[in-house]
Amino acid sequence: MTKAFSLLLSVTLTSLALTGAFGADIINGKKAKKGSLLYMASVQINEKHNCGGFLINSSYVLTAAHCDKQGDMSVILGTHNINPKGANEKRYRVQNKHKHPPYKSPRTGNDIMLLKLSEKVKISKDVKLVTIPSKDRPMKPKSKCLVAGWGETEKNNTVNDLLVTDVLIIDKTVCQSEWKKIDVKLPDNILCAGGYETKSGACQGDSGGPLVCSGQAVGIVSFNMGRCDYPNAPNIYTQISKYTQWIKKVISGGA
Ligand SMILES: *[C@@H]1O[C@H](CO)[C@@H](O)[C@H](O)[C@H]1NC(C)=O
Ligand SMILES: *[C@@H]1O[C@H](CO)[C@@H](O)[C@H](O)[C@H]1NC(C)=O
Repeated sequence: MTKAFSLLLSVTLTSLALTGAFGADIINGKKAKKGSLLYMASVQINEKHNCGGFLINSSYVLTAAHCDKQGDMSVILGTHNINPKGANEKRYRVQNKHKHPPYKSPRTGNDIMLLKLSEKVKISKDVKLVTIPSKDRPMKPKSKCLVAGWGETEKNNTVNDLLVTDVLIIDKTVCQSEWKKIDVKLPDNILCAGGYETKSGACQGDSGGPLVCSGQAVGIVSFNMGRCDYPNAPNIYTQISKYTQWIKKVISGGA
């Protein structure tokens, strides 16, 4: 972690203080509607919320590679409320973690990880899959998308309800030049949305969650500039459509 840059999620409250992040849930979001976003997963370490994720196959959750941490990883599916009292029965164990092989840090890209669950999830009225692009899908600037997550806040670090906000796709050239101002060269295979020219965006605690455009998950929350006092620099997402072959390979390999 550098001063100009911090991972969206692998933060404790201590590092939040270091980077100066303040509100740490989805910024300017609202509670997700009942019956929506049924693919959302809370990726947990030692039974505590660590990252977002989303169900793309009955055995696989997609999240960010930087969400891998020491400890026992599990996933909560099928609820917007991750209060430990009610959520425990919706917990799935993670059998295997597949980080994209060249992944080193969000700043160098490939911030994507598949989690194989130890049992198949039963698709029901409470749990659904979300589709991902089957091939390269360029995103038009200003497309309206949403991002959702359960972040922490400094004032109240137990945000149990899923929050969601609308964000617009930002032109790649504009995004690159905004990040260049703070001396960051963006990696390949990313999308930019929210956090810039708007008060809304993702924040620490939302990492690994999906950027959803017209019902399809196209991005994975990867990083921001370390602060969520939006507007500042655009939020950065891993572009899923650049990884469809790898995803197919992992899932069909069943590893
Ligand atoms: C903190 O969050 C909990 C659960 O959402 C809520 O019941 C409580 O009132 C909040 N406390 C404060 C001080 O905002
Ligand atoms: C999950 O992936 C496996 C292996 O490719 C496939 O056979 C199965 O149909 C998929 N299941 C769902 C619900 O997408």
